[in-house]
Amino acid sequence: MKTIETDRLILRPFKYTDCEDLYEYAKNPHVGPNAGWKPHESIEESKAILKNFIEEDEVLAIVWKVNNKVIGSLGLHKDCFRTADNVRMLGYVLSEDYWGKGIITEASKAALAYAFTDLNLELVTVQHYAYNQRSRRVIEKCGFHYEGTLRHCTKIYNGNTYDVMCYSMTKDEWEKLYG
Ligand SMILES: CC(C)(COP(=O)(O)OP(=O)(O)OC[C@H]1O[C@@H](n2cnc3c(N)ncnc32)[C@H](O)[C@@H]1OP(=O)(O)O)[C@@H](O)C(=O)NCCC(=O)NCCS
Repeated sequence: MKTIETDRLILRPFKYTDCEDLYEYAKNPHVGPNAGWKPHESIEESKAILKNFIEEDEVLAIVWKVNNKVIGSLGLHKDCFRTADNVRMLGYVLSEDYWGKGIITEASKAALAYAFTDLNLELVTVQHYAYNQRSRRVIEKCGFHYEGTLRHCTKIYNGNTYDVMCYSMTKDEWEKLYG
């Protein structure tokens, strides 16, 4: 994945030196569980996740330009519900200290441009657990189309099971909205 710059952010591949910043937001119990993962319990755990990020190259670090700190991540992953080519699933998390400033909406819009131009994708999908109204709002603000809800869909690490609300945007839809 390449580096993307927006007004307030740099989205760039993770580096091993980002470990402390990653651990700082990933240990917060309000962050990971809303995206399905367990809060990090140690810096060693963050180090292992960071290694995966770097090797898999599906996730970008979100850097807040003001302080040059890594404050979250954004990924374009394989969509576990689809086998078609040229489809990726958007995912994101942000440090709780930075919620409500439009940061993930800004990052997601830039990721959509990257997905439909550089990566030449046909479809970008995104999902949220039914209760996650913040993520729902980000998805609405980006202009995704609601596809439906997979009821009783995902069981996460702590045993909780959630309905998953599914959305997508085609390249044509993106061009109409942003072209
Ligand atoms: C979801 C998350 C990524 C949103 O990031 P963000 O940068 O704060 O999002 P934005 O500021 O772009 O937009 C958030 C919107 O939610 C709204 N919002 C906040 N709390 C809300 C609530 N309880 N109910 C409904 N909307 C809410 C905000 O008002 C804002 O909408 P607005 O611009 O119309 O006012 C961030 O909260 C997060 O990392 N949460 C934990 C991990 C997570 O949920 N990841 C997504 C998994 S699908």
